[in-house]
Amino acid sequence: MEFKTKKSIFFAPKVLVSFWKTSRLILRTMIKCHCAEVFFESILNVVKETNRPILEVAREMGAADTCTACVPDMLAFIEQELEGQLAGNTNH
Ligand code: FES
Repeated sequence: MEFKTKKSIFFAPKVLVSFWKTSRLILRTMIKCHCAEVFFESILNVVKETNRPILEVAREMGAADTCTACVPDMLAFIEQELEGQLAGNTNH
């Protein structure tokens, strides 16, 4: 019985890491490219309209091409929004 307690404590961090990786609770701090003053929402709208790659659209709008600090948050935001849109459009 004592072994199981130690084992579960040992595996607890792996469970938390797994949850973190699969969780939708991604902590984003940026909502726009600060270098270009372009909001992720604007990039998302163009991606939806044109169905072109996110970074291609972002760079065409002047974003994500200077310091590139916004890229991870921008990609996470737009991919999450597009996945949410696809999930909401299924008629099963
Ligand atoms: S914040 Fe987007 S390129 Fe610098």
